[in-house]
Amino acid sequence: MRDVFIIGVGMTPFGEIWDRSLRDLFVQAALNALDDAAMDHIESMYVGAMSSGLFVGQEHIASLLSDYLGTAGIPAAHVESACASGGLAVRQAFIEVASGISDIVLAGGVEKMNDGADVTYALATAADQEYEAFHGVTFPGLYAMIARAHMHRYGTTREQLAEVAVKNHEHGLHNPNAQYRMAVSRQAVMNSTMVADPLRLLDCSPVTDGAAALILCSEEVAKKSGKPMIKIRASSQATDHIALHSRKDLTTLPAVGRAAEKAYKSANVKVEEIDLIEVHDCFTIAELVVLEELGVFERGKSGQAVIEGMTRIGSKIPVNTSGGLKSKGHPVGATGAAQIIELVEQLRGEVGERQVKDARIGLAQNMGGSGGSCVIHILEAVS
Ligand code: COA
Repeated sequence: MRDVFIIGVGMTPFGEIWDRSLRDLFVQAALNALDDAAMDHIESMYVGAMSSGLFVGQEHIASLLSDYLGTAGIPAAHVESACASGGLAVRQAFIEVASGISDIVLAGGVEKMNDGADVTYALATAADQEYEAFHGVTFPGLYAMIARAHMHRYGTTREQLAEVAVKNHEHGLHNPNAQYRMAVSRQAVMNSTMVADPLRLLDCSPVTDGAAALILCSEEVAKKSGKPMIKIRASSQATDHIALHSRKDLTTLPAVGRAAEKAYKSANVKVEEIDLIEVHDCFTIAELVVLEELGVFERGKSGQAVIEGMTRIGSKIPVNTSGGLKSKGHPVGATGAAQIIELVEQLRGEVGERQVKDARIGLAQNMGGSGGSCVIHILEAVS
């Protein structure tokens, strides 16, 4: 396998974007990434999108987006793994460059969720239809069950869940691309509208339009580009039962643990060596459970660690410096790619007020549905 580097990143602002279509969003992100890499061509392309058919009525998007990008003719593939589609697109590009098939590959993701589709229905198609969705349970309900189980087993509190949102909104204040750039207090989270007990409006990631793209390449191309050398030290993926009832323990997300184990092994990195982490906080409880699966905190201890400020910028291990899905927004197919962009910009030292000092190694964890799939990347700035 060859080493793989990221030399270009680009995204659109995340939010309710009424004046741009799906293709406009993706092309804008892709052109930004190409500009950043100072590249005028790519050899192939992977695009992550969860459900462009249900959200905007458009399928066959790899060819469509490649055409509108001006690269019609190259191999282009649509990658789907629910909310982990963007991360999986990057992983496919990684495999293509690592294998030696191509030297320069674009990977990205896009979702246009605010064009009038029944968003809750569309999202719930990534749950188990026969055992979950048909009975009326959608993602807030599924994560609410995980939260209740975690509270029952470990004494995790409402305040601890709220603090995840408080911290991520605080980080998101410094991200110009974030959808909700506002501070929220613990009280505001705990008093916000109930969605699925115990999860309230401000425990949830929002409904978002947006796109993100990266240029992956071989070492030779990266060196010639003159860009900072950001190496992909590991790219891993794992799956699990989609339906919660098939899992042994509701307080865990085994796909995350499995992907993490593979990533640490392949990167030869210990969790203590990581300088910052982007996690898939689709709901506040997800951030807590994922941090435990990644081995950052012991089981049942992440809530207390968050309350103690250990996951803030400037503390033990900064988590979701971008604002996370909670504040930055969650255009499902684009999220995994955007998480990796945050790592690249942090490792290059380009993010201003939310910069993690001397950041060298970062980890991004992207998850599909209620943990039916997970993709993890570990990146390192090398000289
Ligand atoms: N965070 C902060 N503010 C939010 C928000 C969020 N997640 N979602 C909505 N808002 C704000 C809106 O801006 C709006 O503010 P305004 O009244 O000042 O304009 C207000 O809250 C109500 O917004 P609305 O769009 O009517 O909310 P909604 O009830 O339709 O949707 C949720 C709220 C939480 C149900 C929806 O965002 C949701 O389903 N989120 C989860 C998405 C999801 O499951 N993703 C996949 C994860 S696996």
